[in-house]
Amino acid sequence: MAFSAEFLQELAERNPIEDVVGEYVALTKRSGQNLFGLCPFHSEKTPSFSVSPAKQIYHCFGCGKGGSVINFIMEIERLSFPEAVEFLARRAGMAVPEQNADPNRGRRERLLNLNREAARFFYSQLSTNEGQAALDYMSRRQISPRVAKNFGLGFAPDGWEGLTRAMKDKGYTERELVLAGLAKSGKRGGVYDAFRNRLMFPVIDVRGNVVAFSGRILGDGEPKYLNSPDTPVFSKSHNLFGLNLAKKSKAGYIILVEGNIDVVSLHQAGFDSAVASLGTSLTGEQARLLSRYTKEAVICYDADTAGRKAAQRAIPMLEKLELTVRVVTVPGAKDPDEFIKTRGAEAFRALIEESENGVEYRLQRAADGFDLGTDEGKVGYLKEASRLIATLPDSVAREVYSMRVAEQCSVSADAVRDSVKLARRRQDRSATRRREREDTRPLRQAQPAGVPIKYANPASAAAETGIIRLLNQSPELFRGGLEPNPEDFSSPELRHIYETMLSLSRSGLDASAAAMSASLTPDEVSLYTNIIQEPVSAANGQKALADYIQKISRESHPQDTSDLRAVAAKLKETKGYGG
Ligand code: GTP
Ligand code: MN
Repeated sequence: MAFSAEFLQELAERNPIEDVVGEYVALTKRSGQNLFGLCPFHSEKTPSFSVSPAKQIYHCFGCGKGGSVINFIMEIERLSFPEAVEFLARRAGMAVPEQNADPNRGRRERLLNLNREAARFFYSQLSTNEGQAALDYMSRRQISPRVAKNFGLGFAPDGWEGLTRAMKDKGYTERELVLAGLAKSGKRGGVYDAFRNRLMFPVIDVRGNVVAFSGRILGDGEPKYLNSPDTPVFSKSHNLFGLNLAKKSKAGYIILVEGNIDVVSLHQAGFDSAVASLGTSLTGEQARLLSRYTKEAVICYDADTAGRKAAQRAIPMLEKLELTVRVVTVPGAKDPDEFIKTRGAEAFRALIEESENGVEYRLQRAADGFDLGTDEGKVGYLKEASRLIATLPDSVAREVYSMRVAEQCSVSADAVRDSVKLARRRQDRSATRRREREDTRPLRQAQPAGVPIKYANPASAAAETGIIRLLNQSPELFRGGLEPNPEDFSSPELRHIYETMLSLSRSGLDASAAAMSASLTPDEVSLYTNIIQEPVSAANGQKALADYIQKISRESHPQDTSDLRAVAAKLKETKGYGG
């Protein structure tokens, strides 16, 4: 363990968990000492995320995630343990003990610095002779110098080692260049530039780090874009191009587009909340990232079939996170960039204002799949539309859209209402079946929720968790000669938790969640907080502990039990009594 328990405890005390979590989640007091809010780690409509200022832990009853303030920062900022420690130390104005520096931190930091230097290099290339081609291309695409600078656009020259040489001069190694995705290994040793003769878009994360690059060819040609691969500092599925700027927008919604050029072009036209997923279709992580910054998403993908399909996939992902979703299709243009260039910003603003909401859009798309001039077409569309409307939680919305569909197909509103009711019943039934299936899974109740940990012996594990809960609440009990043997624990995770608590307690320290989290895996920490958030009855802890010890020892030595039984049977035989 690199950080001392004392240091971690102080770190946690100077970063009260309710304050830190409160910066990300709206917390309210409901009952007792705990605060509640909507879990930032899974989507939910009613708060099951709790924060206990007294125990200095958070715990989600829905998804099972939990831990100390350090785990919270690890999870929400996607940082390693030492990085999260540093993050919190900085937040509280504490010094991080030097010897505790993360071995990976140096590497990550160097890669981020390398990326930043590379961005500077690409930018500087715009003012070279060769870079003129990129400036020309930008002016052809009507990208203003001011916006280009804002995005940090640059130019990767056409040689094989322009960037490589410049970065090596700054002390970066070939290995680092390859790790960062900026260079590739050559067949005959050495490395060469990965991006050549391209307009460079730095990808900047929400904390302002240059994490990757996207390079567009200057004009036509294949491949149109080259994107950085996933690297130790970049995950494509977790980042959105432009979010570093869009997160500061006052628009109240985020505009989701496909292309980097669309993002730049929209920002230039005053739509400063445009972002693009990085050449992938929107991922769950990207949707969640968005949901941290806005309550409303306007999807404005390309007008082609691929764009429509991508929009239809994205809608439910965003709605699940309780975002309001609107879809804008640009008429008479292939993408929002072209629309703005030909029709102007005001026309685009009008489009956004009149934009259909997600339901209308999906209904329209469903209608496109049928010929409403024929009876079969109507029936097919009615079925599809009813299924869609049935998923709407709001009854007024169901009524409104039922009437609209009725009009569309010239049938009675009652017919549509009935069909929607049927679809709803069917959906309810299959949801119930799903729930039942889950409930009847054997031993489900005895297994930990939300963590990929399975107890081999749930009966023993129940006693083991009891021990952990007791030790947390009344450590003094364990000093009275009653000590469970770690070897009797059936679950390696519970044993690890128990031993970690013991060793802290032996050094005279509290098993604070912060100190625990240094030695445990994130899953073990979740399990630990899951266990200790439940109260123990204060009555007769001594007896409870003795029972638990007996239980786990019996479970771990089944042989002995049968011996005992044999003895008992013998007693019964010879003396006529026993138990
Ligand atoms: P133009 O409007 O043609 O200038 O391009 P754009 O910036 O609007 O991009 P487009 O809509 O064609 O593509 C959307 C996104 O998909 C781009 O931002 C890239 O991230 C990605 N992409 C496009 N073409 C390629 C390609 O050839 N290879 C890879 N890896 N990604 C691509
Ligand atoms: Mn485009």
